[in-house]
Amino acid sequence: MKTIKQKELENKYQFKTDYVKDIKNFKDKILKKTLIPHQVEFQAPPRGKKICWLECPYCYGLSAEDNGERLEKDRGIEILRQILDGGVNKIIFAGYATDPLNCSYISDLLELTIKKKAIFGFNTKALRIEDKFFNILETNNLTEGSYISLSVDAGSNETYNKIHGVKTNTKIYDKVLINAQRLGKIKEKNFFDLSAAYLVNIHSSSEQDYENFILNFMEAGCNLLRFTFPQQPKGIETEKGVIPSEIEKDKYKNTLENLKKKHENDNCSILIVDADTDHDIYNKPRTVPCYARYIFPTVGFDGWLYNCSQSSAPNFRNSALGDLTKENFWELFYQYESNKFQEFEKICNKKINSSGCRCDRKEHVINQNIIDSKIFK
Ligand SMILES: C[S@@+](CC[C@H](N)C(=O)[O-])C[C@H]1O[C@@H](n2cnc3c(N)ncnc32)[C@H](O)[C@@H]1O
Ligand code: SF4
Ligand code: SF4
Repeated sequence: MKTIKQKELENKYQFKTDYVKDIKNFKDKILKKTLIPHQVEFQAPPRGKKICWLECPYCYGLSAEDNGERLEKDRGIEILRQILDGGVNKIIFAGYATDPLNCSYISDLLELTIKKKAIFGFNTKALRIEDKFFNILETNNLTEGSYISLSVDAGSNETYNKIHGVKTNTKIYDKVLINAQRLGKIKEKNFFDLSAAYLVNIHSSSEQDYENFILNFMEAGCNLLRFTFPQQPKGIETEKGVIPSEIEKDKYKNTLENLKKKHENDNCSILIVDADTDHDIYNKPRTVPCYARYIFPTVGFDGWLYNCSQSSAPNFRNSALGDLTKENFWELFYQYESNKFQEFEKICNKKINSSGCRCDRKEHVINQNIIDSKIFK
């Protein structure tokens, strides 16, 4: 039988977790300026000139603008310290168009988060992990709920390169698997959730790949594997099959259901998540009014504070909260007048609508839940 913890983990990866448990309390705290965001996403800047180490053809963030500005190490650490000292107890290291493990000071950010007893989460391709990062995970007390989610999308080197648009024959899948195995070994002694994600599209939809991935990453120590489907990214044309149609998705899901029956066990859940169909958000750009800035504001790689993970690049500065290289986190977070809150909301949502942003699944679901509560009417 699956444990309660395993069930909770499954809910988290199916976008069922409640980010806002008491909506009335949420509103009161916004107005009193005592709200602490549920989590802050920290999109650590890339080490090189290029914004990301891959250019995945399905990536949400491919149209992100890069004006060359980066959040520098000292200021980055200072901002994270402000966030943690102000009471935020969950920091997500992910990206819109970047990868957290491609940042030169990611180990310092991780260490600070752990030392302050906050939960950490990573969404990463994990192409490279420095020894310092492994050591920090191994030698510190980790707060329960911390996780690393590896975005893999393949079960072989060939498919890995195909789905991620890599033109060389480099054996990246093998490298990622070795990193997963190292993480799995640490997790045996110092627990955190280790999961692996697989985006299914025309390039990654062979049964052999699905099964290799399941066997390899289960053996590496993952306690959850999640299959899902790419959503239409903002502002780019994708080739046919990169974003699967409903018919394609149904075909993929059939094969996956059989493999789930064959391989799922009490130590490792296998999820097949089709949130677009479940929540009727296929191709819907955004759900507004938007409450993201109060729930999971996001530090962009350029040092600005944005509403959410999907609107966090210089092309979204018009709807951003402000510039963290000049102002502190909490000043920007509480920069509104409570007695003119409705007016403020209206202006924010106008800017958001004209920014062209596209919600990811959790953002659609959370905004919709708050709208349905009518608490801000
Ligand atoms: C934008 S990436 C940033 C973090 C890191 N670079 C990575 O790839 O894991 C975060 C997650 O979004 C997923 N993703 C990217 N584009 C997507 C899309 N169009 N639809 C659904 N998921 C997408 C990635 O596979 C990854 O799991
Ligand atoms: S999916 Fe991740 S690794 Fe791929 S281009 Fe986007 S941000 Fe970079
Ligand atoms: S992408 Fe969605 S959550 Fe983010 S700012 Fe736009 S409407 Fe809000």
